[in-house]
Amino acid sequence: MTNTTETTIALSLKGITSGYGTTTIVRDIDLNIEAGSVTALLGPNGAGKSTLLKTMSGLIRPMSGSVMIDGHDVSSLAPNKRANLGLCHIPEGRGIFPSMTVKENLELQAKPGEQSIAIEKGIAAFPILGERLMQRAGTMSGGQQQMLSMARAYTQNPRVILVDEGSLGLAPIVVDEIFSFLAGVAAAGAALLIVDQFVARALALATSAYVMTRGEIVFAGTSAELQRSDVFERYLGTHE
Ligand SMILES: Nc1ncnc2c1ncn2[C@@H]1O[C@H](COP(=O)(O)OP(=O)(O)OP(=O)(O)O)[C@@H](O)[C@H]1O
Ligand SMILES: [Mg+2]
Repeated sequence: MTNTTETTIALSLKGITSGYGTTTIVRDIDLNIEAGSVTALLGPNGAGKSTLLKTMSGLIRPMSGSVMIDGHDVSSLAPNKRANLGLCHIPEGRGIFPSMTVKENLELQAKPGEQSIAIEKGIAAFPILGERLMQRAGTMSGGQQQMLSMARAYTQNPRVILVDEGSLGLAPIVVDEIFSFLAGVAAAGAALLIVDQFVARALALATSAYVMTRGEIVFAGTSAELQRSDVFERYLGTHE
């Protein structure tokens, strides 16, 4: 079932068509995330990036095509089953539980008996969380909530992390912190798929890049190729 090329692909989409109800948003998408690499998924607002990430993690089911993790078709698996296979989705607008404390949020995804390790790892990633353990997550600042959301993902030791707009609405200094955290996670061997409004930063971190517009991939290549391509100016040039 797996061949030599597929062994290096942590997650792939084959012919994915997906949307909401009967409305098609993304059409016939092929995309590969190589193990241990960073891939940027870029494109204008409404292009379908978040829809594609939701299809990867199982929050929505595709109308056709398949989602593969390590060469295995997971298209019919629920989000928690995909998470167990090492896929982590940090959704747009922060995937945390606002009424629970920071500590409870960190503990929630830990395996039984590993809650204190999860808390330690979360604090190691973002020390500010250590000062806020008993605070309700929803009462923290936007930047702190985003750090918690990243820390929760990190404590699960995922193989593939989908980061949807991780820097949206954050102060520049917090954006720096988020990007250096992501660089560290990538250096430690996780594969990242980054959707971000900061195109230059995303491309600086990424080796591969895809550009989507109106539900279709209009560029697939290396991040260096994208920076030289006329696709960059056409679809991304005005972002920064
Ligand atoms: N829950 C939903 N129900 C119906 N349509 C939706 C839903 N969520 C998104 N859409 C539509 O799907 C299209 C693509 O949205 P999506 O959120 O995937 O875009 P995006 O590329 O992530 O955009 P942005 O950069 O603004 O986050 C848009 O036209 C949007 O209105
Ligand atoms: Mg989006």
